[in-house]
Amino acid sequence: MAGKAGISRMLTLEVTRVTERAAILSSLLAGRGDEKAADQAAVDAMRTELNRLDVDGTIVIGEGERDEAPMLYIGEKVGTGKGPKVDIALDPLEGTTLCAKSMPNSLAVLAMAEGGSLLHAPDTYMDKIAIGGGYPEGLVDLDATPKENITALAKAKGVDVSQITACILDRPRHADLIAAVRATGARVTLITDGDIAGVINTTDPVTGIDIYLGIGGAPEGVLAAAALRCTGGQMQGRLVTSSDEQKARASKMGVKDFDKKYDMHEMASGDVIFAATGVTDGSMLEGIRYVRGGITTHTVVMRSSRGTVRWVKALHPSIEPFK
Ligand code: FBP
Repeated sequence: MAGKAGISRMLTLEVTRVTERAAILSSLLAGRGDEKAADQAAVDAMRTELNRLDVDGTIVIGEGERDEAPMLYIGEKVGTGKGPKVDIALDPLEGTTLCAKSMPNSLAVLAMAEGGSLLHAPDTYMDKIAIGGGYPEGLVDLDATPKENITALAKAKGVDVSQITACILDRPRHADLIAAVRATGARVTLITDGDIAGVINTTDPVTGIDIYLGIGGAPEGVLAAAALRCTGGQMQGRLVTSSDEQKARASKMGVKDFDKKYDMHEMASGDVIFAATGVTDGSMLEGIRYVRGGITTHTVVMRSSRGTVRWVKALHPSIEPFK
């Protein structure tokens, strides 16, 4: 139950089933060029599984606002209603284009926290900065220049700036940022989509990514912050609201200061569970595989209260719904 000890540890295993199922169903559409169909398959599967959980859940980051998203909309109640009150942030298919084109790094993602613990971020952009664990608090800052951040990071890591790698979404809006990072001597790894994985990659030395920089989706920002709360690391985000309409949407969700710099603890506080299952192969997770004897899934599920990170490989004998 929710409370001092946080949300039930049993939920850690339960949410795995939710992301596994979303990943399996969307993977059937991988490489078929239809982003909408792949997303819909993930949404349907995630919703069905969520509604089987003994939680009194509220979607706070979902498929959109009620009038534009018929399912898993912000404010929708999910679960049997019998268990603890929880906030749920989800992206049933992160990287819809990646999945439709069968490119790496599409994921089914979900975070769950005690009620009131996740930032209600509107579906706008967010400027983000993130680094992995083990560095002094406040080492990098959204308001510092790329040069200041990269230099501080290189010094703290004990390497030359040329050995620092920044991950940035490959978008025209990042032209200046990319140039500024390269001018420091650091390397830039560009990704076409999927900045939740981009942020999480900073926490895993195997990926070679030291810092994530740039503007991506705000909902993805909250999900990434939830993951970093579990793995350790630092992240800041600031909403990018470029029109009155976006500001109105943000206000409706309770945002008062549009320029506020959110620390990851303000985006995801208290006891948080984060789970992601690979749809296509990625830097962090294997994608869904159709093998003799069934379907394999690869999931990472973590919980902030103890910082446990579990890697769950499962063999599902068939595509039939979980019993
Ligand atoms: P979708 O899964 O909704 O397609 O999002 C993919 C993504 O790359 C996110 O990871 C990222 O935060 C966002 O899109 C960036 O938005 P844009 O494509 O508009 O630059």
